[in-house]
Amino acid sequence: MREFIYYSRTAPTAGNYIKENLQESGRIDIAIHTVISTFFLSHAIRTDATLHLCFAGPPTPPRHIEIKPVTEGQTGVDKIYLAKTNVSAVIKKLLYKYKEGEKNEVFPGFWIEKKGFLELANDLAEEGRNIYALDQKGEDIRTVEIKENPIFILGDHKGLPGKELKRLKKLYTPVSIGPRTYFASQTIAIVNNELDRREAEGRL
Ligand SMILES: C[S@@+](CC[C@H](N)C(=O)[O-])C[C@H]1O[C@@H](n2cnc3c(N)ncnc32)[C@H](O)[C@@H]1O
Repeated sequence: MREFIYYSRTAPTAGNYIKENLQESGRIDIAIHTVISTFFLSHAIRTDATLHLCFAGPPTPPRHIEIKPVTEGQTGVDKIYLAKTNVSAVIKKLLYKYKEGEKNEVFPGFWIEKKGFLELANDLAEEGRNIYALDQKGEDIRTVEIKENPIFILGDHKGLPGKELKRLKKLYTPVSIGPRTYFASQTIAIVNNELDRREAEGRL
């Protein structure tokens, strides 16, 4: 099992802020690509991943969306049909369905609540989880030790929140996937691939 925390300081925190032009909707397009690269395989949805979307954009930050799609059962009853073409509509619906004071499970395996990036990361660290921050200056992913059930933190086009990360400093290991600056979604694809390889070789 692997988890990703995607932090976006611009992604909108209300459904009506997602307009037809996704790039102009707080760069929600990046979050959508992140969902696709976390879960979509050729003709399959991953069941070994969870994605946390931490949105800090207008109008009512923060929002924490947690996604661990249910893939078993009847569509429309036990699970939703998640396709590359409807990720935007699913995120929009989740934002509309936020309920104050609750972690609301809007669809099976899709939750929304009011929780900030730092609080979420601290909660997971307190549970004893192994946290890695995706950072070009970190240790090479090919050689770094990755412990079981890892959590990887990554940022949007503006990167990770420096101030919050400083407060988390002792709780994570910085990891680099290579010498260039990649899209958030490309970063996830590379991490997923590295973890798949380690699992197949019995190294994780
Ligand atoms: C498009 S990049 C962000 C670029 C932003 N200007 C910055 O300086 O962070 C999106 C995210 O992908 C991850 N990322 C990109 N390239 C990486 C690399 N070579 N190693 C590790 N993580 C990387 C980082 O978490 C980054 O926040």
